Amino acid sequence: MVKTIRFTLNDKPVSLDIDEDRTLLWVLRTELGLTGAKYGCGEGACGACTVLVDGEALPSCQLTVGFAAERRVTTIEGIGAEGKLHPIQRAFVRHDALQCGFCTPGMILKAHSLLAVNPNPTRDDIVEALDNHLCRCGAHVRIVAAVQTATDMLKGGKP
Ligand code: FES
Ligand code: FES
Repeated sequence: MVKTIRFTLNDKPVSLDIDEDRTLLWVLRTELGLTGAKYGCGEGACGACTVLVDGEALPSCQLTVGFAAERRVTTIEGIGAEGKLHPIQRAFVRHDALQCGFCTPGMILKAHSLLAVNPNPTRDDIVEALDNHLCRCGAHVRIVAAVQTATDMLKGGKP
């Protein structure tokens, strides 16, 4: 059913007259022009489409746009900007923790949600948090190292 759906997207208010059952991932990509969240499996199993909803990392391929109503949605485009990268993004660059980059937005947003609730994760905590995020390029070891470095950066350390 077409409804007016209002939510906050990357700190800005959004209002759409849209079928509330449409998938959030596709609304972000096709109606709102935010292509950072990727379509991987479409089944909630790869993490490529991850966005933050009220700070929680969730697979946007499994959410309707109606679910986002009155909530705060953050995509990778809302995390940092060119020339002003978020520390997690800087750590990914530093560790060369990406190859094709398809999984990277989801990895970064998942790490972001982890560090928001656990600012001092162990390596095992990081591995567990990223467990259902797949990287077909096999960059997992570097990705985990990047999140460890980001942890230090966010704590004000000097990695
Ligand atoms: Fe959503 Fe894979 S595309 S989890
Ligand atoms: Fe290619 Fe992870 S960098 S899928």
